Amino acid sequence: MACKLEIEPTGDMVDVQEGQTLLDAALRQGVYLPHACNHGLCGTCKVEVLEGEVDLGDASPFALMESERDDGFCLACTATADEDVVIEAEIDVDIDARSIPIKDIMGTVIKREMLTPRILGLWIELDEEIDFQAGQYINYHVPGFDEPRAFSLANQPSTGKVIELNIGIIPDGEATPWIHNNVKVGDRRKITGPFGRFFVKRSAQKPMIFFAGGSGLSSPKSMILDELENGCTQDITLFHGARNEEELYYADMFRDLESKHKNFRYIPVLSDNKNENWTGEIGFTNDVAKKIYDNQFTGHKAYLCGPPMMSDACITALMQGRLFEKDIHTEKFFSRA
Ligand code: FES
Repeated sequence: MACKLEIEPTGDMVDVQEGQTLLDAALRQGVYLPHACNHGLCGTCKVEVLEGEVDLGDASPFALMESERDDGFCLACTATADEDVVIEAEIDVDIDARSIPIKDIMGTVIKREMLTPRILGLWIELDEEIDFQAGQYINYHVPGFDEPRAFSLANQPSTGKVIELNIGIIPDGEATPWIHNNVKVGDRRKITGPFGRFFVKRSAQKPMIFFAGGSGLSSPKSMILDELENGCTQDITLFHGARNEEELYYADMFRDLESKHKNFRYIPVLSDNKNENWTGEIGFTNDVAKKIYDNQFTGHKAYLCGPPMMSDACITALMQGRLFEKDIHTEKFFSRA
């Protein structure tokens, strides 16, 4: 039996079906609640139950401690309800966020290509177009795995029904090696989305600096293509970190964009270059950015997407260069490999 969920302080009301988690119900009806792992592990979706009773579901004892359970908190991504409930959530109002209900959509793999020796590009034609903001991610349902895996959309919204995923292989992971070895053209797959709040804060009207590493290039690629297509006049700089030229991908596309858009600058950075003919930057993106910006990042918006070590080093560099935390945006989803 469906019941009602009221979310404070916004006063949003959503219907919750039997067995449906509070988070799933809210997101499917276009109501945002904070989330990251979607599986009871990270605690990002913790909310206080003000009225009614919930079943806590499979909440990890680390993400929701015993004392928090006693105090009436639950994880919205695991909690279900069979009576009307009122919860209180910490919701940051983001004026750049659109309200887009998440959906399940089937699609057919129409192309696969190794973009680097470790990153597989998959192109999937969906049965219906997915509405999303450039930078967001989807859950990809992998046969034989209970939990879907999260991947950022590497295409921009204007590509219609065709989406692109860039999937880095984690050799000791489970799903990514399976995807690399087994997914083939013609396969039918379900995706769910869009999720996440990683997108360009257009209302800020500030020049942008993107940092990308590994398959973390997906979101920046989508966001930059979307901005340039939509006539963005702010300066955009992309630092793309890779070990060597083999690991650098979409370099020609970004160089081409640079030649066509005077407000876009592309700076590939190799950390382990062995090619003496390489004329680009060598080292780490954080150090190169400090050099190019003369250690002064005030007045910019920064968007980071890549391995945690890279992101941490870039955040430190940006803050030392006087960029406030509110102007530094990172992709925050967690997904098992
Ligand atoms: Fe719910 Fe991570 S614990 S989103």
